[in-house]
Amino acid sequence: MIEQTSEMPMASKKLPPSSELGFGRIFTNHWFSSHYSAGKGWYKSAVEPYGNISMNPAASVLHYGQALFEGMKAFRQTDDSIVLFRPEFNYNRMVNGAERLCLEAPPKALFMQGLKDLLTLEADWVPKDPSASLYIRPTLIGTEPFLGVRPSREILFYIILSPVGSYYQNTSGTVRIWVEDQAVRAIPGGLGAVKAGANYAASLQAALLTKSKGYDQVMWLNADHDEIEEVGTMNVFFVFKDEIVTPALNGAVLPGCVRDSVLQLLRHQGKKVVERSINMTELIERHTRGDLLEAFGTGTAAVISPIGDLNFKGKPYILNDGKVGPVAEKIFKIISGIQRGLIPDPFGWITRLENL
Ligand code: COI
Repeated sequence: MIEQTSEMPMASKKLPPSSELGFGRIFTNHWFSSHYSAGKGWYKSAVEPYGNISMNPAASVLHYGQALFEGMKAFRQTDDSIVLFRPEFNYNRMVNGAERLCLEAPPKALFMQGLKDLLTLEADWVPKDPSASLYIRPTLIGTEPFLGVRPSREILFYIILSPVGSYYQNTSGTVRIWVEDQAVRAIPGGLGAVKAGANYAASLQAALLTKSKGYDQVMWLNADHDEIEEVGTMNVFFVFKDEIVTPALNGAVLPGCVRDSVLQLLRHQGKKVVERSINMTELIERHTRGDLLEAFGTGTAAVISPIGDLNFKGKPYILNDGKVGPVAEKIFKIISGIQRGLIPDPFGWITRLENL
């Protein structure tokens, strides 16, 4: 059990109704944090009242962007128990990302104990409403005050919690996608394969321009503006008549937890699902001959996000009449059913809070 500080106040706010949640605007009353210093190791690990971080203005994260995060969710199942979806996946990805960004990853026991203590204290914030969940944001940043360019020798690991509803606010159930052929999100050998804050900074300008054109998100292509990599903040799947394709992990694509879960699920169902490179020429050609049945994004925040139309070089391509397709719908029902305890979990994805 991690120390809880003496100034821990009584809960001051309560979980609002799901209709008021949106995504990532409301935070719970406490957070978990732990510090690392080279030569000293991890110290001062505590669940404390939620509040601002005090940091030296020269801290490396503020200048050189040594920042990494994870996105996870806790769910309340129908028997009222609280469960997490694949926490080990997120821990392992944080370890890989920390290596790439030269940050010190927290030991697994610290990561899991911090999660467990914080979630146990904030259990009332895990919504009962099946359309909502508690989003978990473990974060790792370099805090050493030093302006030379080298890895920070001081690190802050923290976890914050935010009750969330739907990520996308549109009512059609599908998202409209602009295929981005100017800006590039990431390149192999860069940071795209890890959950670095910098990847999201790189995405903002194109996302803003896309919204001004009436689209929800961009589809990211590789540096040659040809091969498909991701969509918005998600991985992407294309359902063709004879196969389901998702871009291979080429070093620029993030290995998403829901991506991996969808691959396992489709293979378990006996579907032909392929991880390979896929370019716009193939996509348009197969759409034109009626071979592209549906497409959807996968991510922790949105879970499954069906794509209603794609605009490439000013020309719209409508998918499944702009409606949610059957494969996306079925996968969403199964994954959210497992998360809620409505259907069995043959994959071992669910971890009960008490077993963390
Ligand atoms: C996810 O869906 O996995 C995300 O990380 C989205 C988040 C950046 C809002």
